[in-house]
Amino acid sequence: MTLRAVVKGVGHYLPERVVPNSEFEETIDTSDEWIRSRSGIERRHFAADGQTTSDLGIRAAKAALADAGLEADDLDAIVVATSTADFTFPSAATMIQSGLGMTRGFAFDVQAVCAGFVFALTNANGLILSGQAKRVLVIGAETFSRIMDWEDRGTCVLFGDGAGALILEGEEGAGSTDDRGILATDLNSDGTYRDILYVDGGVSTGTTGHLRMQGKEVFRHAIEKLAQTAHTSLEKIGLSGDDVDWIVPHQANLRIIKGTAQKMGVPMDRVVVTVQDHGNTSAASIPLALSVGKERGQIKQGDLVVTEAIGGGLAWGSVVIRW
Ligand SMILES: CC(C)(COP(=O)(O)OP(=O)(O)OC[C@H]1O[C@@H](n2cnc3c(N)ncnc32)[C@H](O)[C@@H]1OP(=O)(O)O)[C@@H](O)C(=O)NCCC(=O)NCCS
Repeated sequence: MTLRAVVKGVGHYLPERVVPNSEFEETIDTSDEWIRSRSGIERRHFAADGQTTSDLGIRAAKAALADAGLEADDLDAIVVATSTADFTFPSAATMIQSGLGMTRGFAFDVQAVCAGFVFALTNANGLILSGQAKRVLVIGAETFSRIMDWEDRGTCVLFGDGAGALILEGEEGAGSTDDRGILATDLNSDGTYRDILYVDGGVSTGTTGHLRMQGKEVFRHAIEKLAQTAHTSLEKIGLSGDDVDWIVPHQANLRIIKGTAQKMGVPMDRVVVTVQDHGNTSAASIPLALSVGKERGQIKQGDLVVTEAIGGGLAWGSVVIRW
């Protein structure tokens, strides 16, 4: 018998305000056509004034708890992937813990920018396999609209706000790749690339700062590193792209999503794509896509799902899940 971290529920929340590409045409030198053709993005959601990352996370968490048929106090831990926590501290995770009325267990944040959800899932898997926790709520929640420079057309049209959540529970499997649950993980980072994607604020500047990106440079690394990490985690369990039912990639750019799928030898009809509706929601993009993919009837129990993501750091990684 092998202990596995099995998905018990999934949910998401998107803020009400939907912003189409055309809205940017009024304030910066851009066009709907440019944004669509270079990124695949058609619209994104922006949080309302005063609506915080933990607010979005709480809504997504409640949806995942309802999907799993669980209450907050059935959880042992909450792991939140975010780079846009409401405050420097306490963590978004403890804010969400209190917002859910959870009075037991523990909660903490993981910060690996757009790769955050893959890092959080891997941490949650470790907590379950080591016996620290039986049930873990893993959330990706972001309000990137708070760190946009609205005059920088190379970045402000690409990002959006939202949250997604997944509940994992320890369950015995047979030890084969037919088991439900997390089957393999792969994490990487290389801080020498920190200057190509970063926020120019924080405790060292006394400001929140704005996102800065050398888009072409990030693009250059993305497909190569995403395909590599997906290959590495599949290879750990003797599987390949042919075995994959769904790639659920980080939703940053449709051209990156297509290039990575092609390199993995997986056709686009086996890729969950939400970037057109959400933009890049950083650590929230994968759990949002998992939840929407399930809602659309794409992801079904027993499917082999590969998630892969890259972001600031650079940090990148992948997780293979039997849904
Ligand atoms: C940002 C990105 C969409 C830009 O696409 P690109 O094809 O590389 O475009 P370039 O950066 O070469 O820009 C081409 C031109 O479009 C212009 N441009 C940039 N943003 C624009 C916008 N919103 N509207 C119109 N023109 C724009 C640039 O200024 C440049 O003009 P120039 O040639 O006169 O200087 C692309 O590089 C990308 O997606 N990179 C990865 C970003 C990413 O995924 N980041 C998150 C990872 S987590």
